[in-house]
Amino acid sequence: MKVLGIGCGRRNGNSEILLKHALKACEEDGFEVQLVRLHDWYIKPCTGCELCTKLGRDPEVKAGLKEKHCMYPWDADDYKQLTDMVKEADGLIFAAPAYHLMPPGILTVMLNRCHCVGLSNGAKFGKEERRVCASIGVGGSDWTSLFMPIINFVGSEMLGSQMHLVDQMKLHRTPAVGMVLCNQAALDRATQLGHNVAFELKKTEGPIEYHGEEGICPVCHNDLVVIRNGRCACAICDYEGDPIIEDGKIKAIKWDGGIEITRWSPKGAEHHDAEQLATVKLEKTGYIFTEEQKKAMEEGRKIWGKYLEPVMPTRK
Ligand SMILES: Cc1cc2nc3c(=O)[nH]c(=O)nc-3n(C[C@H](O)[C@H](O)[C@H](O)COP(=O)(O)O)c2cc1C
Repeated sequence: MKVLGIGCGRRNGNSEILLKHALKACEEDGFEVQLVRLHDWYIKPCTGCELCTKLGRDPEVKAGLKEKHCMYPWDADDYKQLTDMVKEADGLIFAAPAYHLMPPGILTVMLNRCHCVGLSNGAKFGKEERRVCASIGVGGSDWTSLFMPIINFVGSEMLGSQMHLVDQMKLHRTPAVGMVLCNQAALDRATQLGHNVAFELKKTEGPIEYHGEEGICPVCHNDLVVIRNGRCACAICDYEGDPIIEDGKIKAIKWDGGIEITRWSPKGAEHHDAEQLATVKLEKTGYIFTEEQKKAMEEGRKIWGKYLEPVMPTRK
């Protein structure tokens, strides 16, 4: 069984050192381990052409008999090799620094391209067996509000839209390259994270359990909540609940019953499809527009297609 570590920080940087500690623990527990440093890989950004969305409607693709495709040829960049490794892996550990409150863009570039192979849009992605992910995040300060939720979301999407997070660790106030080596507690925590991944992968039955610190959301264990129609919703899972207010302060959230209504459930996928297709039909051949929609788009394109040419870069 394999555990793949995907890092997007500096060479020998803090997140990479923690990732290596976690991978070493997996290796000691009998797993084959691999490390990818995303900066070494050339991944073109998704253009939003939606070829893969159309192909996702193909019953053969849905059944996993045929692969979804991207408008980029598979040899245009390193994407195919990377996703083949992801599909082969039983466990995925992501490690990222905080850049402007978030993980670096290179991680979301990879995530966006996953649209063309992932389960979002109906195709199987990787093995049928039990698969899990874990996340490591390092910030120079404590400006990190968005990064763990996003890293965890990437992990779940890479597992085929399944929330199978088994652990996460977040480290603040570690700005200089490699200075995490002075923090034995953090190194030990990363080692424990690796053992937790291995432990969950070795289990052959029972639910996948989470070993990290509890967050506000009981599903993804993140703390990022949005307020919608006067209710709270986990920004990652879309799980809804009501705030419990005492002395004018939010003390907790009383979550609705049943996690089968989150983004990661079949019901959540149905809801996503219904939302996306509320205004237009989508078939294997592409979007099917009404006559009224076709007319409005044709006329609008004549005007807006010609308005304001984008400035092109001059560098050769
Ligand atoms: C472009 C850039 C933006 C950054 N933004 C943040 C930030 O928003 N919050 C934070 O805590 N640290 C921020 N940092 C600091 C890094 O997270 C920190 O140096 C971290 O140790 C880098 O991890 P690494 O050694 O694994 O690359 C930023 C660093 C860079 C280069």
